Formats: sequence, C-alpha cells, structure tokens
Amino acid sequence: MKSVRTDVAIIGAGPAGLLLGHLLHQAGIDTVVLERRSREYVEQRLRAGVIEHGIANFLEESGVAKRLRAEGLVHHGIEFRLEGRSHRIALSDLYEGKAITVYGQSELVKDLIATRLAYDAPLFFETEVERLEGLTSQECTVHANGTGVPIVVTADYVIGSDGGHGVAVRSVPEGTFNRAERVYPFSWLGILAEAPPVSDELIYCRHDRGFALYSMRSPTLSRLYLGVSPDESLENWNDERIWRELTLRLATDEMPDLPQGPITERSLTAMRSVVVSPMRYGRLFLAGDAAHIVPPTGAKGMNLALADVRVLAPALIAKFLNSDETRLDAYSATCLERVWRAEEFSTFMTQMLHPHPSDEFENGVQRARARQVVSVESATRTLARNYVNLSSL
Ligand code: APR
Ligand code: PHB
Repeated sequence: MKSVRTDVAIIGAGPAGLLLGHLLHQAGIDTVVLERRSREYVEQRLRAGVIEHGIANFLEESGVAKRLRAEGLVHHGIEFRLEGRSHRIALSDLYEGKAITVYGQSELVKDLIATRLAYDAPLFFETEVERLEGLTSQECTVHANGTGVPIVVTADYVIGSDGGHGVAVRSVPEGTFNRAERVYPFSWLGILAEAPPVSDELIYCRHDRGFALYSMRSPTLSRLYLGVSPDESLENWNDERIWRELTLRLATDEMPDLPQGPITERSLTAMRSVVVSPMRYGRLFLAGDAAHIVPPTGAKGMNLALADVRVLAPALIAKFLNSDETRLDAYSATCLERVWRAEEFSTFMTQMLHPHPSDEFENGVQRARARQVVSVESATRTLARNYVNLSSL
C-alpha cells in the first residue's frame, strides 16, 4: 500500500482537475491528481473544442495557452443553416470584436499534462478512486486503487473533478445533493474524417430530417455530427449512410456536395442536462462535469469546467495562504449562477435546432424561433454574446 499526504487531492485528469492542479502548484500548494484512465486514453478522448473568448484569456493568464494561441483556429462567426439556406452570424461584429477559438479538448489536456509532468507534480494514471472518508472532519482520506496497488491519500480538501457519474457525488450521504436533470430525445452521432473542412466557420444546421453540425480540427480534419434518435446504434450507420445523411441535411444550392474522406472515429453521445447542487459538501468541492452536464449544442461543457476552476483556484489559495474562507464559502453559489445561464442557453440551442420526428407543433415553433435568431438583430446579438463569452459575463 502507498500512502501520500497532500494539501488538495484532485480526482480526475480532465481539463478541470488538471488546470486546478496547475494553478495551485503555481501558488505553492501541494496537489495529487488521481486518474483512472491511462495517459494515452485521456489524451486521445474526442470532445468538443470551442473555447470562449474569456476562457481563452484565462488559459493564457494561467500560462498554458502557448500552443492554443499558435494552433487554435480563431473564428469570428458561425453559420446557421436552416432548410438549405445559409445565415452567417457575425459573432465578432455583434459582440465587441470578440471571437471563439476552435482547439480540441484533447489538445488542451495534452498541454496540461505536459505542463504538470515538467515540474514533476504527482499525477497517477490508471488509479481509480473508490471511496472518500472524513469529508466533514479535519482531514479527508481518498482510497484509490492503482492497478492492484492500494493508494491512500490524506488531504485538507478533495476536489471531485471526476466527470459525470463520478465517485465524488456518490460518496456523500444520501440527500446531500440535489440533482436536476433533463434527458433530451436525441443523440449525436459524431465522426472525425480525413477531409478538408468545407467552411472556415462552424455550421449549425436545422433541417426537417434532423440536426447536423459541421466543425473541424485542422485544415485536413473535419468533425461532423448528426442528430439521431437516442435508440440508434452505430452498426446501423456505415460510412456511405453517414455521408449521404450529412449531405442531405447540409447541402445548399451553392454547396450541393460535401468533401468526403475516410472516417477515423465515430461515436454516439446521448444528450442531457444535469445540475448537482450545492457544489460543495464539507471539504469536498465539485468542479466541471461532476457538477453539471450540458447538451453539446451550445459548446459550453469545457468552458464551464474551466470557469469553475477560475473561481475555485483563488478561493483555495486565499484559504491556504491567508486562512480566508469567504471565497470557498461563496464558491457554489457563484458557479451555479453561471451554470444555470449555460443550461438555459444550451437547452435553447438544442430545442431550436433538433426537429422532432412526430411533433408538428414543436417543429413549427422551432422554425419560427430559428428564423427569429437569424433575422431579428437583438436576438442575433444575444446569441452571439452567449456563444462567444457566456462563462465570463
Ligand atoms: N477515479 C479517478 N478518476 C476518475 C474517476 C475515479 N473514480 N472517475 C472519473 N475519473 C476521471 C475520468 O476518467 C476523466 O478523465 O475523471 C476525469 C474527468 O474528466 P472530464 O470528463 O474531462 O471532466 P471535466 O474535467 O469536468 O471536463 C469537462 O468534459 O465531458 C466534457 O463537455 C465536457 O468538455 C467538458 C469537459
Ligand atoms: C466540436 O467541434 O466538436 C463541436 C463544436 C461545437 C459544438 C459541439 C462540438 O457545439
């Protein structure tokens, strides 16, 4: 058995846990990060990659945005494609010149892992946290299992940055957390394809056949999604069917075909919203997906996770350096105000862009809402502001 003592034990090496570990390390606070997956797995995991203006600045201030600034794709607009017609939303013109950066979450995770390993701070991969103890006493204990070797970490605080369905939320007495949840009747079938992007900007498409999204990772890699029924299975979707359906939904008179290429990854993701509150129990603080999940239509998941860290890191630093707990006490309420704004925006985007196969009333309302967003300036402006910078408003 291995025993470790630290100031803050962090569960999960996703963007939230890794960035928090980095900021605490810079302030001289000891951390241990425990991750149940391998380094290869977390560095390859395919996730959304849109970073808001204020979050990109926060990453830069944190000293981890060198590659993001060099390689990230800065986008000044997005497109809404409604029933075969294109409508550009000029994000930067509509919102103070600010832009989004398209940079894969896996790239950010690689940067954060490399940063942590460079200063040799403890980061245990393939180490699954199984149990937490003492969350309301002077010292917490984290029991983990590192491929057969039990690891016990004692710490002043524990951070549950362990993603959805994580062990942290399950480790508190029944009834401690409220869980507000909504399940949407859609999934996203996502692909990564070796095909040059057709557009310099993301395309959010509402078509009566279903939702589609055109995104990209580099000048040679396209990332595309189809809204499908939640009981779909990947076996029903061969490459030919995927490209045919994407083309049917995304085609316009000017762009009747999509550039196709080998599909190198495919996945199905169910869509749901979850908010766990409060985001604290005693010495346990929740951050990122552990506390809140948004449907991916608004591209807010990673931004929210990093915005939690922007509140939690200085709060922990104030406690360790100045014995000041006021910011820790305000953590949950501060974050939840933003989280609910993001839930509202993500649900708005989802409900506007995913037609229901058998609800003509809902579909009529959706079409009207989408047309309003592209044609009424105040509505377009609100969307631009939320899309570009919701987590920093
Ligand atoms: N022990 C150790 N590690 C764990 C455990 C456990 N019991 N349970 C989960 N983990 C790890 C997961 O393997 C994962 O690597 O916690 C990590 C959580 O990371 P993320 O899921 O990336 O969550 P977060 O850092 O909050 O980032 C949120 O992820 O889902 C997307 O859209 C979301 O982009 C957002 C981001
Ligand atoms: C992505 O590039 O993977 C992406 C972009 C925007 C979204 C969701 C995913 O809303």
